[in-house]
Order: sequence, then C-alpha cells, then structure tokens
Amino acid sequence: MRSVIHFVFFFIIVFNEAQVNGTLNNKRFPDDFKFGVATASYQVEGAWNEDGKGENVWDQVTHRVPSPIVNNDTGDVACDSYHKYKEDVAMLKDLGVDFYRFSISWSRILPTGFDNKINEAGLQYYKNLVKELRANGIEPLVTLYHWDLPQPLQDIGGWPNEIIIDKYVDYARVLFRELGDEVKYWLTFNEPKQTCNAGYGLAQKAPFITSPGMADYLCTHNVLRAHAKTWRLYDEQFRKDQKGTIGITLDIQWYEPSSNSTADIEAAETKMQFALGWYANPIVYGDYPSIMQSNIARRSAQEGFKESRLPQFTEEEKKYMKGTYDFLGVNLYTASLVRATDEPNPSMGLDEDSEVLAWQPDDWETAFSSWLKVVPWGMRKLVTWMKNTYDNPKIMITENGYSDSGTLEDDGRISYYERYLSSLRDAMEFDEVDVIGYAAWSLMDNFEWLAGYSEKFGLYHVDFNSPNRERTAKKSALWYKNLLETRCLVEECVD
Ligand SMILES: *[C@@H]1O[C@H](CO)[C@@H](O)[C@H](O)[C@H]1NC(C)=O
Ligand SMILES: *[C@@H]1O[C@H](CO)[C@@H](O)[C@H](O)[C@H]1NC(C)=O
Ligand SMILES: *[C@@H]1O[C@H](CO)[C@@H](O)[C@H](O)[C@H]1NC(C)=O
Repeated sequence: MRSVIHFVFFFIIVFNEAQVNGTLNNKRFPDDFKFGVATASYQVEGAWNEDGKGENVWDQVTHRVPSPIVNNDTGDVACDSYHKYKEDVAMLKDLGVDFYRFSISWSRILPTGFDNKINEAGLQYYKNLVKELRANGIEPLVTLYHWDLPQPLQDIGGWPNEIIIDKYVDYARVLFRELGDEVKYWLTFNEPKQTCNAGYGLAQKAPFITSPGMADYLCTHNVLRAHAKTWRLYDEQFRKDQKGTIGITLDIQWYEPSSNSTADIEAAETKMQFALGWYANPIVYGDYPSIMQSNIARRSAQEGFKESRLPQFTEEEKKYMKGTYDFLGVNLYTASLVRATDEPNPSMGLDEDSEVLAWQPDDWETAFSSWLKVVPWGMRKLVTWMKNTYDNPKIMITENGYSDSGTLEDDGRISYYERYLSSLRDAMEFDEVDVIGYAAWSLMDNFEWLAGYSEKFGLYHVDFNSPNRERTAKKSALWYKNLLETRCLVEECVD
C-alpha cells in the first residue's frame, strides 16, 4: 500500500515538474485549424495621401507638432505595403500560412468618410491584394475597421456621435459588394476597447480625447450598434450569395485572482466583465453585463446624473444585437492580477467604475514593451473562460505576439509563441474549447502606434532606414514556417 502511494505521488511530482519547466503540448493541431499572420492598414501601408486617399485620425495625430508619438514617427510610409504588397504575399507564401489578416483603410475607399464618393484607386489596391493572395492559395481575412477613422467623421464627433452608425454600415456595404465575392472571412471591428476607452476616454490613442467614463461609453454603444447592423446587413443581403462568415475581434488580457479569497475571485470576474463582457455580452446575450449596469448606475446617481453614464439598449435593440456573430475573435498578449478593495476610487472611468484593482507584478517575465508581461497560461484560462461564459462559441485568436527592440536572432519571440500556442493547444485538448484559428502578430515590424517604430513585433525585419523597406526573415519566421509544416510544437507529435 505504502509503495503504491509513493508510486502515485512520484508521478504527480514528475507531471507537475514537466508543466513547470515548460514541456510543450505534443498533440498535432487539427487539419482544419487555420494558421495565419496579421497586420493593419495604418501600421503597414504608408502612401498616406496617394491616389486619392483621404486623411484619417492617425494621419492627423502623427502630423501634430509636438507629436504624441515616440521619435515623431508617422505611418506616412510605414512598410510601404501599398506599393510592396506582392512582396508581402511572397513572404506569406513562404511562411505557408492558411490566411492573411489585414485591414482596410476606410479613407482609402471613401476619402470623405461618406459613401458619396468612392475612390476607385483605393478599391483597386485591395482587389489586387486579394487577387494576389488567392493566386497563392492564401485566404484573406479582412478587418473592416482597425482604428483609422476618416478625419471628416471625427470632425463631426467621431464614434460618440450616433450618426456614425449608418456611415459605418454604408462603408461596410461598399466592401461586401466590391470584395465579398473573394473575401469569405470578415471582422467588423478590431479591439473596440482601444478605439473607445483609449481613444475617447484616456487620450492614449487617436483621436486623443479625455472623457473617461463618458465618451468611451457612448463610443462603445455606437460601435456595438454599428457592429450588429453590419452583421445583419451581411446576414440578410450578402451571405446567401457570398457564403462568408463574419465576427468581431476583442482585445483582452487574462485577469487572474491574486488570491483564493472569494472577494478576489469575484473581483477578477468583475474585471473580465468590464473588459471583455462590455462588448461580448451584448453581442452574445443582447445587453451589457449586469455588474456594469449596476455599478455604473449607482455611481452615476451618486455623482448627480439623472441617468446612468452607461447608455441603455431598448428592448428592440437587445433582440437585434443578440447573436450577431459567427465567431468571436480575440487578441491576447498578456495578463494581470486582480484584487478586491474596500476603498474604490470615486473618479469617473472604466477602471474606477469596476471598483477592483488590477496590476502586473514587477517580477513577471516582460517583453520589450513594458505592458507585455509574458504569461502563457493566461491563454488557456482565457479561452476556457470564454467557452464557459459565452456558450461554447467558435473562437479565433486573431492576434498574439511579442515585442523586442529589434534582432534577427529573436529567440524570445520563438519561446513566447511556443508557450502560448502550447497553452492554447492544451485548452483545445483538455477543455475542448472550439478554437478555429490563430494569427501571429505580426507578419513584419511595423508602426506600433504611440511607440512608433521603437517596438518590433515582426516575424520579418523591415529596414525603416532604407527607401526600399527591405524585408528579412527573422529566426522566428523560420520557426513559424516549420510549425505550419508540422503543425506540431515538439520534435514529434502524436495525433
Ligand atoms: C524539463 O524536464 C525534463 C524532465 O525532467 C527535462 O528532460 C528537460 O530538459 C526539462 N526542460 C527544460 C526546458 O528545462
Ligand atoms: C520631434 O519634433 C519636435 C518638434 O518639431 C522637435 O523639437 C524634436 O526634436 C523632434 N524629436 C525627434 C526625436 O526627432
Ligand atoms: C489557489 O488554490 C490552488 C489550489 O489549491 C493553488 O494551486 C493556487 O496556488 C492558489 N492560488 C493562490 C493565488 O493562492
């Protein structure tokens, strides 16, 4: 008996040690699992004012003096993908990706933001790109909106003004009509929390407006209604002929309770609801999470507002919103710890309204970007939480990646991808999460928003000092290529 117990004990210790020292999942990724890479229009295209393109909010802020961007960097030329898309597709082909996730620049298609004037040259660029992808057997996955709002729409208030809902749907209709025969995977929005909370709440992204707990809530309300209307437009008018699929991409980090106390476990759940539930709950279930509704209503009343700062959906809107997704896209990079507090911050704002505290421990492994703590186990926890919270949706990881200051021998990036993908594969194997695909961020180094070109996320290096913007495969590109061939994270996989 005693020796049997020892025997069992021995195995538990060995098993745990294997997990701790980083043994990777040894199951092959299923044949129908799609691998890709991602980019976004403003970050790679350049040609900011060529061939009839209009100005967008990122053109506007990067041209400000003084500039809010590191080194006064701009996306004026970026990776010059507007001219070098054939080279980009050759890189994609060499990597062996199943799909390429890129976004469309609204002001390249509709220079005024409105559909009164379509810029044929801009449209032609995307038609050429899609054609080149198809000719090389690569599936296009198109993000309709990745943060580059036409400036004329910002001039009338941008996302907090509900006029924008129909303008966005007009834009989407042009894309479905013009590109929908060849594009079968669509994402309405990329990371709307960044557009709304960072863009209109905290002045950390274009258009750099400071109105926390007010404009960011109005922005989100309009983004959600624009998303639903666009999903329904596709579903009712285009799906039958075009046979595509359409979702949204939300950004989230994993929020881990900092202790096993009930209060901290609840606090972490609250944080997930304020971050992901803010968008996912209306789309899946038709309304904001109840904890957001109750916290913000109570605090708004205390602040003397007649109505909650969190806008409300009408009953009709709730029905209309509910179920407007074919799959949920998610961008995951990092994680934080969360704890409850007895002394909530009384200021207005998304974080303050959650009434919990989140932070990243200093001793966690960190990429070059200070916010990017490397927490691979957060991947499995996140997708499993999404499975349980949103009734087992199809999930696509639409971004995941690692920054450094720039090196071709990017072992840190390889190690990051290995461990996050292993955690994802664990979720598929042990928790039966329905994950349909994964896109590495990013195909190549590019304009990293406020950080300009100082933080590199690419599988390919880009020489930003050269007018030709030469691309060079990093070690991680070769590693990813091998992964896509073997679909396996270790020497030898079992099926
Ligand atoms: C992990 O543990 C196994 C078994 O003890 C060992 O063979 C392997 O070298 C370790 N790997 C790392 C990365 O430490
Ligand atoms: C950025 O632009 C400002 C204003 O033109 C200038 O003073 C500053 O030296 C520039 N910084 C860099 C790093 O080029
Ligand atoms: C919570 O409890 C689990 C299971 O006992 C343990 O593994 C984990 O380390 C605990 N977490 C914290 C933060 O104390």
